[in-house]
Amino acid sequence: MPKLGVNIDHVATVRQARRTIEPDPVWAAALAELGGADGITLHLREDRRHIQDRDLRVLKETVQVKMNLELAAEAEMTQIALDVLPDQCTLVPEKREEVTTEGGLDVVTHYDRVKKCVDQLLAAGIEVSLFIDPDEQQIATSKKLGVHAIELHTGRYADALNEKQQACELKTLVAAGEAALNEKLLLHMGHGLTYRNVIPVANIDGVGELNIGHSIVARAVMVGFQQAVQEMKALVNS
Ligand code: PXP
Repeated sequence: MPKLGVNIDHVATVRQARRTIEPDPVWAAALAELGGADGITLHLREDRRHIQDRDLRVLKETVQVKMNLELAAEAEMTQIALDVLPDQCTLVPEKREEVTTEGGLDVVTHYDRVKKCVDQLLAAGIEVSLFIDPDEQQIATSKKLGVHAIELHTGRYADALNEKQQACELKTLVAAGEAALNEKLLLHMGHGLTYRNVIPVANIDGVGELNIGHSIVARAVMVGFQQAVQEMKALVNS
């Protein structure tokens, strides 16, 4: 059964809409843990559109489960990660103009830049995961980079327009998952997963961790954070 990493970025998005102090992602993280979250995931973006440096510092003190920091493979962000020392860092691509992370990190094209960042994080004892598209070349290159894990981007599966397309994208994820496991990489998945589409992904052989944010925060607005996490945890474990 995969572990559930709850991404709390969009609690901070609501706060930043007014640049005030509420809702506090630190509170959301505590409620997520009470709801059964196995990990807390957050993305410190270069433009600080949601999570702030203060959130990262406070969460490092308060999170009692695994803390997973998503970051761009850039020097400034790497230094912040090295200062804070989260349990796990997931390297993601980042463009200022995108609404959310649009595709996987291209570790083939950006090999040298990614390697520099990976080596520093590994040397500091941080578990490193790479957020990549479900593609064999990306997986083989991730292995070469010496990371512990990859997180397969599930966006194409989530965005599928009909059942046939969705089944096809699921097959791609299954095959990529097998390739990752054959390379002895830990297998994570995430992006765009919802209460309606999560079960087939949670049931893929060998998936160790799912990272889910937007859908949980959206439901939490209606039912409360702890309950929203409980409901997602039940689906992930079904
Ligand atoms: N995994 C990664 C690497 C991400 O960048 C994100 C989005 O921040 C997620 C998972 C969660 O995606 P969603 O908010 O669509 O559930």
